Amino acid sequence: MAVTVSFRQHSFICCLLFIIISQASAQPSFLNYFCDNNKGNYTANSTYHTNLNTLLSNLTSNTQINYGFYNSSYGQNTDKVNAIGLCRGDVRPLECRVCLNFSKALLTQLCPNQKEAISYHDKCMLRYSNRSIFGVVETSPSFYMWSANNATDVDQFNQVLGNLTRNLTATAASGDSRRKYAADKASASNFETIYGLVQCTPDLSEKDCNDCLVGAISEITSRWNGKRGGRVVRPSCNIRYETYRFYGEPTMAYAPAPLPYV
Ligand SMILES: *[C@@H]1O[C@H](CO)[C@@H](O)[C@H](O)[C@H]1NC(C)=O
Ligand SMILES: *[C@@H]1O[C@H](CO)[C@@H](O)[C@H](O)[C@H]1NC(C)=O
Ligand SMILES: *[C@@H]1O[C@H](CO)[C@@H](O)[C@H](O)[C@H]1NC(C)=O
Ligand SMILES: *[C@@H]1O[C@H](CO)[C@@H](O)[C@H](O)[C@H]1NC(C)=O
Ligand SMILES: *[C@@H]1O[C@H](CO)[C@@H](O)[C@H](O)[C@H]1NC(C)=O
Ligand SMILES: *[C@@H]1O[C@H](CO)[C@@H](O)[C@H](O)[C@H]1NC(C)=O
Ligand SMILES: *[C@@H]1O[C@H](CO)[C@@H](O)[C@H](O)[C@H]1NC(C)=O
Ligand SMILES: *[C@@H]1O[C@H](CO)[C@@H](O)[C@H](O)[C@H]1NC(C)=O
Ligand SMILES: *[C@@H]1O[C@H](CO)[C@@H](O)[C@H](O)[C@H]1NC(C)=O
Repeated sequence: MAVTVSFRQHSFICCLLFIIISQASAQPSFLNYFCDNNKGNYTANSTYHTNLNTLLSNLTSNTQINYGFYNSSYGQNTDKVNAIGLCRGDVRPLECRVCLNFSKALLTQLCPNQKEAISYHDKCMLRYSNRSIFGVVETSPSFYMWSANNATDVDQFNQVLGNLTRNLTATAASGDSRRKYAADKASASNFETIYGLVQCTPDLSEKDCNDCLVGAISEITSRWNGKRGGRVVRPSCNIRYETYRFYGEPTMAYAPAPLPYV
């Protein structure tokens, strides 16, 4: 897949880097990261720094959570750190922890003193800040990727893609506070099947999730049209579609809420 990336630069002096990580290792596939230079810096070994390390270590070693969403805070007053970790809905708990653990090491190295930073891997997203980031829809810093290949019948492809992403958005947005995720496929023209995946951080309300995804989907038509694959990745939601299957079965570890006694 040929890759083009763009992002809102107003507040981010940043770091467009393609790091091609060898697929030979088990390292999760890295996509992008942003260090926010305008929301404050911490100094090495400050309380904020220690709190950040404590929080991220605790988050990546948490074996209680099996639904791929981590949100926690650590510290007091101006040294309080908030972090969110989100794994793709088909990623198993162990692989999720490995991905977040990897993100933690990479991100704190790439952004060595910024209070706010975010990294995107194929299968997980990690972000932290000193401000409150829970339950708040955030659409930037975002980035895009799209395939070099064109669909054979663009009009039909777009119609099927539009229907599919609308359906997936409705399903994901109606998810509960542990998971807002949906993936499915639909047949386009003769030989093409479109595989789509959408996800929000599950701390968002149904409406915020819906709005975030609708906005992300509209970027597809405004930024590229008729390409056979693409992604829009935002802090609060992301969407991806391809003409090959790129996701697995949803994780079963995610148990439904216990039934009430009757
Ligand atoms: C976060 O840090 C910045 C810069 O140090 C500061 O201006 C801001 O007030 C802090 N935000 C909170 C919620 O503490
Ligand atoms: C934070 O540090 C970065 C370099 O690490 C620097 O470019 C930026 O200007 C600093 N921001 C503030 C608000 O001091
Ligand atoms: C921070 O702590 C580490 C390990 O304790 C030490 O190696 C490093 O020199 C310290 N850095 C600063 C700026 O104090
Ligand atoms: C670490 O996480 C556990 C839950 O897994 C929690 O009970 C504990 O208080 C946390 N510790 C810190 C230092 O945040
Ligand atoms: C997390 O990464 C560290 C090295 O950065 C490693 O020692 C540790 O075993 C990893 N933990 C998990 C759960 O992958
Ligand atoms: C895809 O379509 C665009 C414009 O319609 C064209 O410029 C481009 O060469 C096509 N790419 C391929 C791989 O056919
Ligand atoms: C898309 O959905 C509309 C309305 O739900 C329907 O009329 C149309 O046939 C669908 N198109 C495709 C290609 O599935
Ligand atoms: C979208 O959902 C409608 C109603 O459930 C269904 O008829 C249609 O086939 C779905 N379209 C796609 C592309 O999944
Ligand atoms: C984390 O998110 C869950 C919903 O997914 C929510 O119930 C919980 O209160 C959140 N925790 C914090 C610290 O915001």
